[in-house]
Amino acid sequence: MKRVENVLREHRYQRSHIIQILQDIQVEFNYLPKEALEYVSQRLKIPLSKIYSIATFYAGFSLNPRGKHLCTVCMGTACYVRGAAAILNEFERKLNIKPGATTKEMNYSLETVNCLGCCAIGPIVVYDGKYIGEFKLKDIGRILKGRA
Ligand code: FES
Repeated sequence: MKRVENVLREHRYQRSHIIQILQDIQVEFNYLPKEALEYVSQRLKIPLSKIYSIATFYAGFSLNPRGKHLCTVCMGTACYVRGAAAILNEFERKLNIKPGATTKEMNYSLETVNCLGCCAIGPIVVYDGKYIGEFKLKDIGRILKGRA
């Protein structure tokens, strides 16, 4: 748990930094491993149930291993009426996974979200944190070849 200890040290073991600590752990592991949360709970003397309630409240945290790349398709109403369902179907077909899953080789995770707050430029896909508005089906191939 040296990597988790380093994160805690960077935050000077401040319990009030718990959200930033979880964010940094997620950056470190690409998700929040159970062992890491248990370690944080013990070191900061925060009940594990409280840590889990934070980790499950924020959509940005993942308790499951994620792939190297994260594709999030907005399925909110505005994006949906502009073709988000077809975009999601195509990602599912090309990656051979359903939303919430990760490809076997751990390269891609696919997720959905209900509105990102920028409906005017929908449909929107977020790829590794980058918002791509007015997304077109043909953009999928470009993304998956690393040219987004
Ligand atoms: S519905 Fe997609 S950003 Fe609002």
